[in-house]
Amino acid sequence: MSGPEEPLGRAALRTGRERAIAEPTLERIGARLTAHCGLAFGSHNRPDLVRAVWSGVSELGLASPEHLASLVEHPSGALQLARLVGELTVRESYFFRLPEQFAYLRARVVPELVRQRRARGSTDRTLRAWSAGCAGGEEAYSLAIALHESVDPGWNVEVLGTDINASYLDQARAADYGPWSLRGVDAIERARYFVAGDRGVRRVREDLRRLVHFAPLNLAGAGYPDPGARTGGLDVVFCRNVFIYFDAEVVARVVARLATCLHDAGFAFFGPSDPLPARIVGLERVSARGATMVFRRPAERTGAARSAEVRPAHRPSSSARSAAREAARPAPVAPRAPRTRAEPAAPPDLERVRSEALAGAARGAAADAERWAEQWVALEPSSAPAHYLLGHLRGAEGRRAEAAASLRRALYFDPSFALASFGMAELVAADGRAAEARGFLLNALEALAERSDRDVLPGSDEITAEWLRRIITSRLASERDAR
Ligand SMILES: C[S@@+](CC[C@H](N)C(=O)[O-])C[C@H]1O[C@@H](n2cnc3c(N)ncnc32)[C@H](O)[C@@H]1O
Repeated sequence: MSGPEEPLGRAALRTGRERAIAEPTLERIGARLTAHCGLAFGSHNRPDLVRAVWSGVSELGLASPEHLASLVEHPSGALQLARLVGELTVRESYFFRLPEQFAYLRARVVPELVRQRRARGSTDRTLRAWSAGCAGGEEAYSLAIALHESVDPGWNVEVLGTDINASYLDQARAADYGPWSLRGVDAIERARYFVAGDRGVRRVREDLRRLVHFAPLNLAGAGYPDPGARTGGLDVVFCRNVFIYFDAEVVARVVARLATCLHDAGFAFFGPSDPLPARIVGLERVSARGATMVFRRPAERTGAARSAEVRPAHRPSSSARSAAREAARPAPVAPRAPRTRAEPAAPPDLERVRSEALAGAARGAAADAERWAEQWVALEPSSAPAHYLLGHLRGAEGRRAEAAASLRRALYFDPSFALASFGMAELVAADGRAAEARGFLLNALEALAERSDRDVLPGSDEITAEWLRRIITSRLASERDAR
């Protein structure tokens, strides 16, 4: 191995990802994708586009990228277009991602929504929420669970999950999840919300599944709000980690349109890494202690719903109460997150930087965690766990190229880092590079051979060697069957 950037050199040759595509052809395809679904292309993700185009050309048995460009430009090219979109977006999600937002939802938002209804004299006892860009459904089910547990008996919950990728929606409807999706769910919650399935997979409880409905929807299109399709008159919209793909103009348009899907004083939640416009039409930011990126549609000035900082209007369930305690706990007097590498506030303390990075990642504070992880890497450049954490955080935000660079470094410094190999397998599989993915899975299995079943793996608080072994074995088996 010649250096941290090199381990995939041969793989690159095998996949042919260096093969050039004529610039005008790439631009035609990129422009079609931007117009269709808002995907934006620049130097950071150009290699992803090149790979996706070559993968499309080979899987569809086409003669050239030019042929693919003509197909996607044609009105009948919807399937080919959808295939490209699937290659260029990631399904990455997990239950209760950004737990502080869910704590805020339970402790503050639900009581406020209920209070407003009562203040208006409304007899409507249903809370309606939308997970827009729901990937495999983790966010939609998390919403259903959090809302269901927070309302009084007699209230109903309806959740809509939508995504542009139909295959993700099939997975969402199946509601079967492995440890990767369940990494934010503790053992008690696993037992409470899921039933055990085959080979470590858990299925969302039937009664919770019934609260959620999934449908395809392109957020860059004009098909919403539509109350008939459950995208109008909503109490809550979650649209997190979707805008990272869009150009700024599309983000501004989508956010403004989402605002119109909320009823007065409904709430919108975005992700900390989402590039929101400086001024958001139709939404105002909520000052939510502990949870960032919470907005609401400005209420009519009735006085009833002016502040999100209200006391719960009813006695919440026990888990809602503990979430409330969590949300209400005073913010610790900072250690401030590092602002830039160039201006550390004090001489850097490796222990503190490491623990801030890990703690931030564990509570889903991705942006903070990433800044701390960057510091950790700067202080300890040959630490495989530091590079792994950075790669993991970037991968979770869909920044595949950056994630891959960090994971490669982790593997360079520790080739037996099983979760880094597994992470690489996920990234290259998302690029359609099945053979490479298999190689990484086999490497991970080899690394796991040296561990006993109950070993918790480096890079995780809870994933055991046995779990990962099972997931990898089943992936390899289904991949063999597909060949
Ligand atoms: C990284 S996942 C985020 C999943 C979930 N919201 C979360 O935060 O865990 C991004 C999702 O956005 C979807 N997406 C990308 N562009 C979209 C579009 N134009 N319309 C609808 N969904 C889109 C992708 O298919 C993918 O499932």
